[in-house]
Amino acid sequence: MKPSVILYKTLPDDLLARLESHFSVTQVSSLSPENLQQHADAFAKAEGILGSSETVGKEFLSHTPKLRAASTVSVGYDNFDVDALTSRGIALMHTPTVLTETVADTMMTLVLATARRAVEVAERVKAGEWTGSIGADWFGIDVHHKTLGILGMGRIGLALAQRAHFGFNMPILYNARRHHQEAEDRFNARYCDLDTLLAESDFVCISLPLTDETYHLIGAEQLAKMKSSAILINAGRGPVVDEKALIQALVDGKIHAAGLDVFEQEPLPVDSPLLSLPNVVALPHIGSATHETRYNMAACAVDNLIAALTGDVKENCVNPQVLK
Ligand code: GLV
Repeated sequence: MKPSVILYKTLPDDLLARLESHFSVTQVSSLSPENLQQHADAFAKAEGILGSSETVGKEFLSHTPKLRAASTVSVGYDNFDVDALTSRGIALMHTPTVLTETVADTMMTLVLATARRAVEVAERVKAGEWTGSIGADWFGIDVHHKTLGILGMGRIGLALAQRAHFGFNMPILYNARRHHQEAEDRFNARYCDLDTLLAESDFVCISLPLTDETYHLIGAEQLAKMKSSAILINAGRGPVVDEKALIQALVDGKIHAAGLDVFEQEPLPVDSPLLSLPNVVALPHIGSATHETRYNMAACAVDNLIAALTGDVKENCVNPQVLK
């Protein structure tokens, strides 16, 4: 008999077929308490789950006594209680490599859009305001040759550094847990402490996961250390930035602008003050959201689940200690 798995995300037909060739698949719309109740038998039998963006903690695990592997269609896994999974011997699989270049493109999009005010001025054009030669009130600031600071020199940070160094002649500063030789050798990136990075960067770009250490890493005190001409970019996780403090800093002109793909609450509430600030570009968490990359992530997640449930994991496991 094929192992049972729960799928809580829509997959392209060919990937669903691949999953179904290995497993008996029950598809649900989410891991909501209603679905857990309605499909209790399927959850009780499930050896694997595959999906994204749902909380998987002790309460969920109490419904899945046979679970052996969880496969998330994302690089981030802050929505999983990794300790709880690990103590139950459940492998957590993620998709760390396939989205790197696409997320770095999103970060560069935010750098350019905020600096050149692309969204704001495009809206003015659509509103019929471009009626003559534009004046200084339409101008942005340069990106090329400005200093780009990167918080978190993982794969995505590195791909951002590559774009900024070769494409835009930008000096790169970075802060991370460790020195990153490749970033220093290939992109001339300079390691510095957080305060130096905040003080010297024209763009402070966050590419950090959400952990106990990174929660509200950037608050009022850190924002006050940035140049008033600097721009904050966040495409890591929303709660790395204290959003209230960010709003205040933007309102008070302590920093120039912000480009955000992630928020403390997603979807961003429609009454968020961020939405009425002209110097904010807010994206709906599109970091990896291209047709190609989302397909590749889903394919990777399917392969990850197959590997985990057939005892053939070679990569992409968050807690490889459970495989031993
Ligand atoms: C997106 O935010 C991801 O973690 O893949």
